[in-house]
Amino acid sequence: MIYFFSGTGNSRWIAEELARLTGEQALSIPDLVKDGPTAVYAGAGSSIGIVFPVYAWGAPLLVEQFCKAISVSEGAYVYAVCTCGDEAGFAMRRLKRFYPLQAAWSFTMPNNYIVGFDVDAASLEQKKIDAARERLGRVSAGILARKTEFDVHTGPAAWLKTAVIRPMFNTFARRTKPFYATSDCNGCGICERGCPTETIVMRQGRPAWVNRNCAQCMACINRCPKKAIQYGTGTLHRGRYYFGNNKTNNG
Ligand SMILES: Cc1cc2nc3c(=O)[nH]c(=O)nc-3n(C[C@H](O)[C@H](O)[C@H](O)COP(=O)(O)O)c2cc1C
Repeated sequence: MIYFFSGTGNSRWIAEELARLTGEQALSIPDLVKDGPTAVYAGAGSSIGIVFPVYAWGAPLLVEQFCKAISVSEGAYVYAVCTCGDEAGFAMRRLKRFYPLQAAWSFTMPNNYIVGFDVDAASLEQKKIDAARERLGRVSAGILARKTEFDVHTGPAAWLKTAVIRPMFNTFARRTKPFYATSDCNGCGICERGCPTETIVMRQGRPAWVNRNCAQCMACINRCPKKAIQYGTGTLHRGRYYFGNNKTNNG
């Protein structure tokens, strides 16, 4: 079984492709936990994979909570796969502290963190996706062979980033107050339906960000077909990214 979290589709694509190549099933973590904690059990001989995007050199909090609740029997094969724009830091090393990982891989995918940076150039997006498509074969073969392997692009100063900056991100950078919809909003509700943490509700035809669970996954701002969602003023002149929204990404 493969469990995934994804804001803008990169990790969903990787999870679904790995599921197809390994004959497994891919399930969305937010869908599983939306009505409360779900008991997940990995029995002896089973294979269990977690796929997630890297947020501030760590796994999203929701993913960490999900992993902490999994009970893993001896003899189960346990692995994780992350997607990141550039580098994963010690996201996997941290996960291993409370989730008995035997293997981990990273995929470099297009950047979606438009609150911090602009999207990648279209040519770079395509290059990353082409390289990821090729890497899927190697990683799925590793999973099928139940390899014990850590092939993760950690990047420089990984300890500092994961141990020091990541907690600061989780404490201070997940505010929803700067989100707003401009007059271009037509009330379609895609943002509400696509929010994995049910942070958005439509009020009088406009999105409102109503709780503290926001993961900053960037689904709402990147998916809005009218480009009507902004975060302060920083995103006004930045591009938007969603896996498959660039025609060359498809297929
Ligand atoms: C809040 C946030 C923090 C991020 N932090 C990192 C990071 O530390 N390192 C990195 O390489 N990419 C980072 N990214 C980029 C994403 O990990 C990358 O685009 C990922 O593939 C998105 O996956 P998704 O489409 O499944 O949501 C961050 C993105 C977001 C939204």
